[in-house]
Amino acid sequence: MSKIFNFSAGPAIMPKEVLRQAQAELLDYQGSGMSVMEMSHRGDEYIAIQAEAEKNIRTLLGVSDAYHVLFLQGGATTEFALVPMNLLHPGQSADYTLSGAWGKKAVDEAKGIGKVNVIADTNAARPCRVPTPAELKETPGAAYLHITSNETISGAQWKTFPKSTAPLVADMSSDIASRVIDVNQFGLIYAGAQKNLGPSGVTVVIVRKDLAEGARKDIPSIFRYQTHAENESMLNTPPCFSIYLLMLVTRWIAKQGGVAAVQKINDAKAAKLYAAIDASQFYRGAANPAHRSTMNVTFTLPSEDLEKKFAKQAEAEGLKQLKGHRSVGGLRASIYNAFPAEGVDALVSFMREFEKKNG
Ligand SMILES: Cc1ncc(COP(=O)(O)O)c(C=O)c1O
Repeated sequence: MSKIFNFSAGPAIMPKEVLRQAQAELLDYQGSGMSVMEMSHRGDEYIAIQAEAEKNIRTLLGVSDAYHVLFLQGGATTEFALVPMNLLHPGQSADYTLSGAWGKKAVDEAKGIGKVNVIADTNAARPCRVPTPAELKETPGAAYLHITSNETISGAQWKTFPKSTAPLVADMSSDIASRVIDVNQFGLIYAGAQKNLGPSGVTVVIVRKDLAEGARKDIPSIFRYQTHAENESMLNTPPCFSIYLLMLVTRWIAKQGGVAAVQKINDAKAAKLYAAIDASQFYRGAANPAHRSTMNVTFTLPSEDLEKKFAKQAEAEGLKQLKGHRSVGGLRASIYNAFPAEGVDALVSFMREFEKKNG
């Protein structure tokens, strides 16, 4: 197998160890004679897989009994709609912060469902950043305050979360389980799995029980968090194979020493890359240093032509998928939990060589 480093923003690199185990068990899961793909989701084997997935999420993130952990489908994009459908009651409004493209999508979707106040908008700020506490003026009586904890495209990340009166709702798609957080600060957390938790196809939703219970009941049951909770995420057929892989990935995170241990590694990987950017006049970080993401390191070169050349040559040397998102350009190195430190070293060496030849 050729050696490459996969900087994809998502779906993203998975731990090799997990893929090997899935490969070994693909045709015959633990002597059952069946693949996990072929089993009934109501059978003992699969129920044990999903129960472990939930237990692992609870242990790794420190999720108390006050919260449901749900495994849903439709990606984080579906949560852009489900959050307001559930939590935004008639006559209420919801506060949103908008610090990048994903926050904007969340706002646009919520606007079609109820009254939305964008209380801070740093989407156009360059360097990219998230709002400061002083910029947040909560609307009295707001149903919730929504943030995007890490803007995958711009590379701006909340380092400390706002202390809001309304329940805090976070799209954590691109940094869940990458750093220690206090779940108790949040009313609801959602994340598509395809960056730090597994493959695409499953969305993790962590919702405070009282919020799920008090949510709107006048929406179809398939869209209600409470119905999914009452049915233990088995209201309908769950994405069994994705959840199985999520279970293996969360087991792998625990084996690394848990979220605190992977956070240390993530911080070191990101620091090395940002140091290389800061040491040069050729590369420029796209995010404000105080809000730089440890997951998606975004940077620019002096011209678009050079950026294209960089991405092309890097690709040829096995440094894959470094091109920035089409909406913002530049370069983006996504270095999620499973991304190896040696890949960061390889990128830093490549950056130095490229600058020598083109700087
Ligand atoms: C922060 C963030 N939110 C939402 C999404 C959309 O996720 P999905 O494609 O799973 O709907 C993404 C996808 O990359 C993301 O990075």
